[in-house]
Amino acid sequence: MSAEESSLRSFEPGLKIIVAIDGPAGAGKSTIARHLARHFGLLNLETGAMYRAFALKALRAELPLDESFGLVRLAAETTIRLEPGEEENRVLLDGEDVTGLLRNQIVTDAASRVSVFPAVRAWMVRLQQQLGAGGGVVMEGRDIGTVVFPHAEVKIFLDAAPEVRGLRRFDQLGPAAAVQPEEVIRDLRARDERDRNRADSPLKPAPDAVLLDSTHMTLEQAVEAAEAIVAAQLNQPHRGEML
Ligand code: DC
Repeated sequence: MSAEESSLRSFEPGLKIIVAIDGPAGAGKSTIARHLARHFGLLNLETGAMYRAFALKALRAELPLDESFGLVRLAAETTIRLEPGEEENRVLLDGEDVTGLLRNQIVTDAASRVSVFPAVRAWMVRLQQQLGAGGGVVMEGRDIGTVVFPHAEVKIFLDAAPEVRGLRRFDQLGPAAAVQPEEVIRDLRARDERDRNRADSPLKPAPDAVLLDSTHMTLEQAVEAAEAIVAAQLNQPHRGEML
């Protein structure tokens, strides 16, 4: 048995670790998280989908997205659940399956806006900590390694140049979206700016995160690199005691 096979075997059943994946939009977090979850037998939890679901509710309620008071009241009467799905999480907003309504530009922009408010974040962080409490998860977002699970066994910070991330997003959207690549890159830069510069839990790598820049990689290469990072972290002797 190869070293890699034996290491995989030792942590396959009932692996209770937390793998935190953070990074900006379009860095490949979702794809990589999904592959890691499959490869290591973990549950994949997409925290961005939770912010998106809450943003959808705020939009439906026609609340101003720049006033925390109304948003906090709304949060108090909102339940959000994530369920594992084949390709992405199923998102239940107050019991309604809203999975198919979360990826358009209006909700994307609104999610970035509502996520700047500390009270909204505190509520989300609590929910996410409950979801991951038992371990055995890959959780992806912006603040997982810094705030939600600062003691996660593995932390990866994924990045890529904005133009590359924008073009990947453009390809994902396809011709039906009827947008120009420049527009996608511009929106992505605006979201980056907000996510990186907000006062509460800005997007930044945890000091102990492994940085993975996929600017010059295919997504397949980035997936392989991420798998190697997780395997290497799990094989460190001091990590074994935590498993
Ligand atoms: O990962 P995503 O594109 O689905 O996230 C949508 C927005 O939600 C993102 O612009 C910022 C916010 N977000 C956050 O602030 N913290 C997280 N852990 C996840 C997402």
